[in-house]
Amino acid sequence: MLVIPNSRSLRVRDLLLLPDRWSLPSDIYIFASPPPSRKLSLQTRRAAPRVRSSANLTYRFRDLLALEPLSADELTFILDQAKPFQEIQRHPLKKLATLRGKTVALAFFENSTRTRLSFATAASRLGADTMNLQAEASSLKKGETLLDTANNLNAMRPDCFVMRHASSGAADFVARHLEIPVVNAGDGTHEHPSQGLLDALTIRDRVGHLNNLNVIILGDIAHSRVARSNIHLLGKFGCRFTLCGPAMWVPRELEKIGPPDTQIRCVYRVEEALEDADVIIVLRVQTERLNEPSLSQSDYILLYQLNAERMKLAKPDALILHPGPINRGMEITPEVADGPQSAVLEQVTNGVATRMAILYLLMVGASEGTHPALEVKPDAKSKESAHASD
Ligand code: NCD
Repeated sequence: MLVIPNSRSLRVRDLLLLPDRWSLPSDIYIFASPPPSRKLSLQTRRAAPRVRSSANLTYRFRDLLALEPLSADELTFILDQAKPFQEIQRHPLKKLATLRGKTVALAFFENSTRTRLSFATAASRLGADTMNLQAEASSLKKGETLLDTANNLNAMRPDCFVMRHASSGAADFVARHLEIPVVNAGDGTHEHPSQGLLDALTIRDRVGHLNNLNVIILGDIAHSRVARSNIHLLGKFGCRFTLCGPAMWVPRELEKIGPPDTQIRCVYRVEEALEDADVIIVLRVQTERLNEPSLSQSDYILLYQLNAERMKLAKPDALILHPGPINRGMEITPEVADGPQSAVLEQVTNGVATRMAILYLLMVGASEGTHPALEVKPDAKSKESAHASD
């Protein structure tokens, strides 16, 4: 099935010019897994060592439950692994065979459009199949517990479990019971690690680096798992944060989250917050929560909406991110959301590459210097291991 005719490296372009993966000539090798000895376990479930070999970095993530426990090196490693997958998104033929024969369970106990589709697309572009559970149609509605549902899905033998749940800690809980890798696709108000990573990738691409940036997060921060993941990630690179929104959504306790020594300040006037901003992360106004303590939509627009006038207060090249879904005309004007400083759709594109990297790292493991989208070492041993891992 897979091919490497000789010892030259196979580049992304070569891979994608090959015909459909099912009709490849039988003597061709496309991918080799990293040698098993290189696979190391990095996890948040058990205390796992971050391992550095003298030659390069090697990681195998056990789960991806949160960004908080990961170091700047580990986060950089994941972002670097996403880079070659970004190139694949630009090519007309996007399918790889890295996870052929593997199955990714997508268990979304809470509604999602972008994140679920993005993981499904990532799995498919790596050659994996998916199993889908959607909250509305699931037996949860009939009273089944989270653990029973997870165990039942797991009994169908997926190789990875991607889950979203309305309760903080739900992914961690499931991970303690399953042997396969678990990816947290958003748990309550806790974390949304793949969103934090794709945001960082987008910032790194546009700004050129992640170091010491002034990051403004605007909106309902108290309820936002996206804000937390962003703070845990960007804080490791020395970024400073200004959290801005109505007082009930920006409690002062938030100044204490983030890595040690991270500068976080809460301000309640958007004009003050925007001064010197390098990156502005606009959060959705969760209309389902607007009638909590009273703040009308028109008041929110008046006081906090990101519009062209207010953007003049930020640095002229300040980057605008939004995790989606956007409420146009509410937290952000269409003019700003669609303007040149907005990277909203790049975030969505980068989401697929980031999630390909996550699935690859969890299900295969990776060594620095090797990448399925870049090159393959064609020898008998790697051919064997590619068969085994497929
Ligand atoms: C966010 C989420 O669900 O946490 N969206 C997303 O994953 N793209 C933010 C939100 O729902 O407002």
